[in-house]
Amino acid sequence: MARTPIVGGNWKMFLDLAGAVQLATDVRHRLGSVRGVEVVVFPPFPFLKSVADRLAESAIGVGGQDLSSETSGAFTGAVAGPMLRSVGCSHVLVGHSERRSVFGDSDEMVARKLAAALAAGLKPVLCIGENLQERQKGETFSVVTRQLRSALAPYAGKTDALADLVLAYEPVWAIGTGLTATPEQAQEVHAHIRQEIADLLGKSFAAALRIQYGGSVKASSAPGLMQQPDIDGMLVGGASLKAEEFAQIVKFRQAN
Ligand code: PGA
Repeated sequence: MARTPIVGGNWKMFLDLAGAVQLATDVRHRLGSVRGVEVVVFPPFPFLKSVADRLAESAIGVGGQDLSSETSGAFTGAVAGPMLRSVGCSHVLVGHSERRSVFGDSDEMVARKLAAALAAGLKPVLCIGENLQERQKGETFSVVTRQLRSALAPYAGKTDALADLVLAYEPVWAIGTGLTATPEQAQEVHAHIRQEIADLLGKSFAAALRIQYGGSVKASSAPGLMQQPDIDGMLVGGASLKAEEFAQIVKFRQAN
């Protein structure tokens, strides 16, 4: 089954307004009419509207880096899914490892945020992945299985709700460290994830589901990762802050 690759640029807590608009302008210039690959950028909240305006009517989508599990109310500092929609977001990251490890989002909270994203009509990119200690103890598969089940088990038999779901496997030890998983290491986990999804949500859903790899992806490592049968895209942090390198990553086929 052909799965359209999807590449995300996670701008994290970098840039200022002028820098974000400039980056969006540069990314649009290089990728605004790209075909055959879906591209989404995830700017910090205060820049979303300006970036979405800058990318309007281009092929590039815009997403939030997180969302509240709540729809509205007295939740100081939080941002709700409908708010993201109203400033032009199509996508949202859910359960990024920095939200889990720095901000304490539990598996249960991630599941609630996923439900909130779907209720708001946002396309969720659900992030999972083990940390270094878990990998060293041989717990990689059990950790990603736990994370997948707690977020996705409620949708067994109800996969229509997950039509726009994308997964991102991001080994925490590879994020921002310069340590990319080898294509073979990543493929091994991606294949496990797809099998788990098949068991949980059915074979045809699993076959169509896109699973991104994330963690120190560079223009030089993108083609090798994308050659793996179960890697359907990349979620890029540091390298997405440079329009030229991000464009090279999106155009990974041309580097082959
Ligand atoms: P990195 O970040 O590419 O800088 O490792 C990836 C991510 O956190 O999504």
